[in-house]
Amino acid sequence: MEFLDPKIEAYTLSRTQEEPEVLKQLNRDTHAKVLMPRMLSGHLQGRVLQMLSKMINPASILEIGTYTGYSAICLAAGLQEKGKLTTIDVNKELETMVRKYITEAGFNDKIDFLIGDATKLIPALPGPFDMVFIDADKVNYSTYYDLVFDKVRKGGFIIADNVLWSGKVLDDASKMDEDTRAIVAYSKKVHDDKRVENVLFPIRDGLMIARKL
Ligand SMILES: C[S@@+](CC[C@H](N)C(=O)[O-])C[C@H]1O[C@@H](n2cnc3c(N)ncnc32)[C@H](O)[C@@H]1O
Repeated sequence: MEFLDPKIEAYTLSRTQEEPEVLKQLNRDTHAKVLMPRMLSGHLQGRVLQMLSKMINPASILEIGTYTGYSAICLAAGLQEKGKLTTIDVNKELETMVRKYITEAGFNDKIDFLIGDATKLIPALPGPFDMVFIDADKVNYSTYYDLVFDKVRKGGFIIADNVLWSGKVLDDASKMDEDTRAIVAYSKKVHDDKRVENVLFPIRDGLMIARKL
């Protein structure tokens, strides 16, 4: 399901900063060689993530769900000079591609790429994080939120992708699949959490942005 009228989307992109060449290439390469290229954030959301990161200017970012590295490169662009982004993915097969593009984007010294199950790796990460981007398996979104919460500094942000889940969040609850139920539960959990302020940003497939009070 497309949320934006295609003509409005085309106009929006025509008035949005172009993708840098390295991201254009990564976008093309992902579509040509990798399964499920729709998972990549893409031009508009990538520019939004980069802009948010530049506004926050974090010293430390955690990304859960690297895929081919597109959003990691967008987010890393807003890091402080000595800042670090840690990104985790369970899929070892994409390692060569991810490392190639991190190098081409010039972020070898800023991005730590960890391979493994994020539910197992996060407890060992020291934090604190100024920004967390949750974009991995939907059934674990609430687990990721709980695992990272105490590692996010006061005033830090937890951003989760796909919270509109192609509109399936509006389906009858009795007909929802496991992923949809998990996404609905996640946005309710964040919305009900008195420890954060939040906004559901209806860009692409929906970004839930929570700021820790
Ligand atoms: C939607 S894609 C990430 C897209 C990427 N953030 C972007 O915008 O270009 C989700 C990724 O989460 C990874 N993933 C799924 N379960 C995971 C887990 N338990 N731990 C770490 N990564 C996981 C998948 O392998 C997949 O690459």
